[in-house]
Amino acid sequence: MNNNILEVKNLKKTFHVKNGHKFEAVKDISFDVKRGEVFGFLGPNGAGKSTTISMLTTQRTATAGEIILDGKSLIKNPVEARRKIGVVAQHNNLERGLTARENLIYHAKYFGMETKTANKKADEYLEKFGLADRQHDYVRSYSGGMAQRLKIARSMIHIPEILFLDEPTTGLDPIYRAILWEQMTALNKTAGTTIFLTTHYMEEPEQLCQRIAIVDQGELKALGTSAELKEMIPSNNIVSMKLSDLNASYVETAKTLPGVKKAAIQNGLLLLYMNDAQPDFNYLINWTKQQNTTLQNISLSSSTLDDVFIHLTGKEIINHENK
Ligand SMILES: Nc1ncnc2c1ncn2[C@@H]1O[C@H](COP(=O)(O)OP(=O)(O)OP(=O)(O)O)[C@@H](O)[C@H]1O
Ligand SMILES: [Mg+2]
Repeated sequence: MNNNILEVKNLKKTFHVKNGHKFEAVKDISFDVKRGEVFGFLGPNGAGKSTTISMLTTQRTATAGEIILDGKSLIKNPVEARRKIGVVAQHNNLERGLTARENLIYHAKYFGMETKTANKKADEYLEKFGLADRQHDYVRSYSGGMAQRLKIARSMIHIPEILFLDEPTTGLDPIYRAILWEQMTALNKTAGTTIFLTTHYMEEPEQLCQRIAIVDQGELKALGTSAELKEMIPSNNIVSMKLSDLNASYVETAKTLPGVKKAAIQNGLLLLYMNDAQPDFNYLINWTKQQNTTLQNISLSSSTLDDVFIHLTGKEIINHENK
């Protein structure tokens, strides 16, 4: 059996926008996802993540390229492919005129489940996602978080071979966020469901994903384990300085200081990538005094996926909920 559940080859999506203009949202992306893997797909707003997911889940047609799902062309066999897929889309695509329970049953039956099993599974998932009490309410009366929980329950109920989660934590409180990860992990471990996860929270893929892809402006910038990605940045020891005035010339002089591998300005901070895990803080503080600037804060940290992300995309992940 092929070790890859998903093979994406030179995938492209071009949108026709106003006045005959074209916009390439996905530009020639290629990657594989291993069977049973938890795969992270990260990128800033507008990177092309949802557009990619929409092609991988047959919701949109690709402009060019090939998608092989479980050894078969998804583009040529969309109906067959759809049966293997579960998806939590970024937008609310529930049937608003049906109750929560009806949404689940309708979906389970579409996937060929018998009435008895569908009812049993619906009970189980309504309970897991805290919706049992409100199961007979119309979805149009649901809060954002409740609708999100129902979308997640619906994506899992038919035990897909591959589950696509496009920012699934959006709108979830910390308790349901934990339940989501618990259920996702259970599906992955017990049923062997492959997980394809997009999220804006960097700590989540770091803990959950075996491999992570970083995309920006429709292109794949990096792919590897979190440890491999962290090796892409100049150093694991980063000194961040907040200065009263941040002058681009500081980067030039800081670069020449002993022990500094690279200097950069990011998000209003001067970042020094240090050779040593124990840099000489006194020396650095004295250097700021010589620059006639006031040091407001200085800290040392090990690199995180956030640093990799900023290094590769020049952008900081924007968290929809907290900002
Ligand atoms: N139907 C469309 N017509 C034209 N442009 C589109 C369409 N859908 C998406 N785009 C554009 O494609 C780019 C990628 O959008 P996409 O939704 O895939 O980004 P994303 O990585 O999912 O971002 P986010 O983190 O905000 O969810 C954006 O510039 C977006 O405006
Ligand atoms: Mg998106």
